Amino acid sequence: MSKNIPKNDLMEKIVNLCKRRGLIFPSSEIYGGTGSVWDYGPYGALLKNNVKMLWWRDMIQFRDDMVPQDSSILMHPKVWEASGHISSFTDPLVECKKCHHRFREDHILEGKYGNVVGKGGKVVCPDCGGEMTESKMFNLMFKTFMGPMEDSAHAVYLRPETAQGIFANFKAILEVARKKLPFGIAQIGKSFRNEITPGNFTFRTREFEQMEIEYFVKPDEAEKWYDKWIKIREKWYRDYGVKKDNLRLRKHAKKELAHYAKGATDIEYHFPFGWSELEGIANRQDYDLKQHEKFSGHDMKYFEEEGMKKYYPYVIEPSGGVDRAALAFLVDAYNENEQGEVFLRLDPRLSPIKIAVFPLVNKEKLPNIAHDIYDELKQNWFVQYDDGGSVGRRYRRQDEIGTPYCVTVDFDTPKKNTVTVRERDSMKQERVKIKELLDYFKGKLSK
Ligand code: GAP
Repeated sequence: MSKNIPKNDLMEKIVNLCKRRGLIFPSSEIYGGTGSVWDYGPYGALLKNNVKMLWWRDMIQFRDDMVPQDSSILMHPKVWEASGHISSFTDPLVECKKCHHRFREDHILEGKYGNVVGKGGKVVCPDCGGEMTESKMFNLMFKTFMGPMEDSAHAVYLRPETAQGIFANFKAILEVARKKLPFGIAQIGKSFRNEITPGNFTFRTREFEQMEIEYFVKPDEAEKWYDKWIKIREKWYRDYGVKKDNLRLRKHAKKELAHYAKGATDIEYHFPFGWSELEGIANRQDYDLKQHEKFSGHDMKYFEEEGMKKYYPYVIEPSGGVDRAALAFLVDAYNENEQGEVFLRLDPRLSPIKIAVFPLVNKEKLPNIAHDIYDELKQNWFVQYDDGGSVGRRYRRQDEIGTPYCVTVDFDTPKKNTVTVRERDSMKQERVKIKELLDYFKGKLSK
């Protein structure tokens, strides 16, 4: 039985679990942390990697119309002029004159901090009620220098999205991939944004990872593919355990759209702190390729052999965050029973550890048999060997990190060559022959 956990408590419980079990914790915590970047510990790194592997598999490996790439974080500064990031990748910043806390003006106006209108209709500081400065536009890109000279001629930026690496390589990839429209280029990688107000755990951070697809289509097929990609990406989250009621689509109003976008839809997730963007799907038209042609002087058009004509393809962009996806999966998986014991009911494909192997006691032949089983299973999956404490406690530890199966080697094992397999969600136990264990788990885990 699962306990109903109030949304207000859920986030704190998840953050605590992540810290306690080493899934996710503050970066450089020994120095007090930074508040805007997070590190993934052993189980967190495995979870995050599973999110990426499944995206990579489903979006690239299983499709004939996709190729991967891995472009660099540091790019020629002209890339960001062409993309418009230098001139307009900004947020409106306001600062309290009293406590000097900084906020995004648009967040205040959207009511994120409640009603903060003071005397005379002026917005006041959400934290102390102090007077606010006029808003100024703040560029979110991190700036650094290429080489030893720290001057403007050597300024470069940490990429704020992976997308531009795909656009800049469009022609190079077109030549080697031998793909015809429609086709996509996909990549996973770190991006950096100097967010004014990072927060809500890993939801908004200054260093994060993106999974982005730029899908190139004939202009008159853009609408069709835009709709298709919204469905594909929504289904992907549902396939790995996000509850239907926790997902919704939010179509951007015309005034919200970036100047280059014809349409944009967010896949929103009902996080404990409210509905927020998990992934965005945009119809970027031919803006990016045209801009890169203008700024680089290189022809960025596509040559269509059938019609013997050249044109700029349109681009549909499904762009998601690895960290936000992992957080959503964690939120949906978090369960407690009436005793307050935690069960992370992750889809087994996302679980950091797939199987735990326990010898019931550390004597007789049991540890040797358990080690042999562990050695065989770990050739296929991440498996954990645990011989510490009672079996009940060992189950608890695995339930907390979402391990779907536990194998116990008990006193019957040497006599009957069988073990007990216990499943996390049903808690059902069944006896399985040791020689059939590998196939048993292949049947359960190879989806
Ligand atoms: N190329 C398009 C693009 O970057 P975006 O909506 O700015 O679009 C795409 O970002 C996704 O990247 C978001 O839906 C979110 O999942 C993730 N993301 C963006 N900013 C983030 C941040 N500060 N922290 C964590 N994830 C972020």
